[in-house]
Amino acid sequence: MIKVITYGTYDLFHYGHQRLLERAKALGDYLIVGVTTDDFDKKRGKINVQQSLMERIESVRATGLADEIIVEEYEGQKIDDIKRFGVDIFTVGSDWVGHFDYLNEYCDVVYLPRTEGVSSSNIRSKKRNINLGLVGEGNVLKKFHDESKLVNGIKVNTILTDNDSEKECYKNENLIFSKDYDELLKIVDAVFIISHPSKHYSQIKKALKQGKHVLCESPVALNEKEFDELQKLAMENNLILMDSIKTAYSTAYNRLLLLMKGGNIGNIYSIDATCTSLRDFDDNSWNSISSWAPTALLPIFQILGIDYKNKTINSLTLDEKPNFDLFTKIDFQYDNAVASIKVANSVKSEGELIISGTEGYAYVPAPWWKTDYFELRYENLEDNRKYFYQLDGEGIRYELVAFAKSIELGKYNGYIDYNISKAICKIIEDFENKDVNFIKRY
Ligand code: CTP
Repeated sequence: MIKVITYGTYDLFHYGHQRLLERAKALGDYLIVGVTTDDFDKKRGKINVQQSLMERIESVRATGLADEIIVEEYEGQKIDDIKRFGVDIFTVGSDWVGHFDYLNEYCDVVYLPRTEGVSSSNIRSKKRNINLGLVGEGNVLKKFHDESKLVNGIKVNTILTDNDSEKECYKNENLIFSKDYDELLKIVDAVFIISHPSKHYSQIKKALKQGKHVLCESPVALNEKEFDELQKLAMENNLILMDSIKTAYSTAYNRLLLLMKGGNIGNIYSIDATCTSLRDFDDNSWNSISSWAPTALLPIFQILGIDYKNKTINSLTLDEKPNFDLFTKIDFQYDNAVASIKVANSVKSEGELIISGTEGYAYVPAPWWKTDYFELRYENLEDNRKYFYQLDGEGIRYELVAFAKSIELGKYNGYIDYNISKAICKIIEDFENKDVNFIKRY
C-alpha cells in the first residue's frame, strides 16, 4: 500500500484545494491530510485565517478524499509524521517547490502544479476590506501601519497626525493625509486611535456616532462613566469598540495566562508587574500612569480579577502639574492575594513580571510586556521550565486580526474583557481625582 501525506491550512476551502487533494489521493492508496493549527500558521506568517481548525478539518473530511486527517502543530512535525505513519510520498502544491526537498531523505517528495487563479488569501481579502484610519502620533502608529499590511482584509487608507515630521516616514505609501478628524471619518470604516488620552472620549464618541468601529490605545477613557457610555453607544449601534493593549495578543503571554490558570505554580498569592521607560516629556506627553498602567494591570486583572478590596496609589508628580506623574506605584489587596504595579516615564527600574504561587513562581524578564520568553521556577531546580514563543510584530498583527474578526462577526472577539477595560479606566479616574499619596520630589 502506498501512503501519501499532504499538509495545508484549507481556509475557506476552494477549488484549488479540492484539485490538490484529488491528485494527492491519485498518487497512492491511502491519503493522510495534515491540517495546520492557527498558531503554527501565525508563526509562518499566515495571518487572519478565517475558519476555526474544526471547520477546516470538516471541509477536508467532506471531500471524502482523506483516509486520515491529522493536525499539524509544530515545527519538524512532518519528519515525525512520515516516520510514524510509514509514508511513501509527501506532496504539496508547486508554490512550495524546493522548500520540502529535505524530506527526500525520508520519502519521495512530489510538487503538484498549483491551480491558477484561486487562493484563500485572495478570497479573504475580497471578502472584507476594512478601510482603517490611523489617528495620533508616535512610532506605534507607524508600527500599526506596517503590521496592517500582513493582515488580510484590513487596509490603512488614511492617517491623521499633528506631527508633520512623521509624515515623512509614510511618503512612499499610498495614503491620504487627512486634514482633520471629520475628513478622516468620512473615508474609513474603522479607526485606530493613539492620540493623547484626554482626547479619547470625544474622538471615540464621534467615530461611533458616525458608524465607525474603534480600536483605541488603552486607556479608552479617563473614567468609568465615560467608558460605560462609549461601550453602550457601540453596542446600540452594533459597532466594535476595542481596547488596545498589544501584550494581550502575544502568544507567550497567553500561554503564561493558561499555565497560571491551570495551577502550574499552585495557588497564586502575589503578582508584581513593572513597566518603565525614560522619556523626554512636554505638554503633550502621556503621564506615566496612562502610558503604562493599562499594560501593567493586565496580568493582575486577568489572573486575580478586578474585585480587589483595597488599593493604594503612591505617585511622584510634577509640582506645577499634579496630574503628571513621573512615577507611580499601586498596591492592591485582594481577599486571597496581593499585587503591585510600578510604572514610570521618569524613573528606571527592571521591567519584569513575577507571579508567586504556593508551588513555584513565574518569571518574565524585562521587557515583560514584549513577552516571548518566560520561566516557571520551582524549589527543585530540575523542575524549572523555560518557554519561548516567537513574538511577531509585538502582538499588533494579532490584535488587528481580532479587530477585523470582531467587525466581520459583529461580535467582540478581543482578548481583553470589557470589565477589565473598565477597571483600568477606574484606576486612571482615581488617580485623576487625586486619590493618591504624593511622594516629595528632591
Ligand atoms: N493549493 C493549490 N492551488 C491553489 C491553492 C492551494 O494547489 N490555488 C494547494 C497548496 O499548494 C497546498 C494546499 O493546496 O498544497 C493547501 O493550501 P493552503 O495553503 O491551505 O491554501 P492557499 O489557498 O494557498 O492559502 P493562502 O492563500 O492562505 O496561502
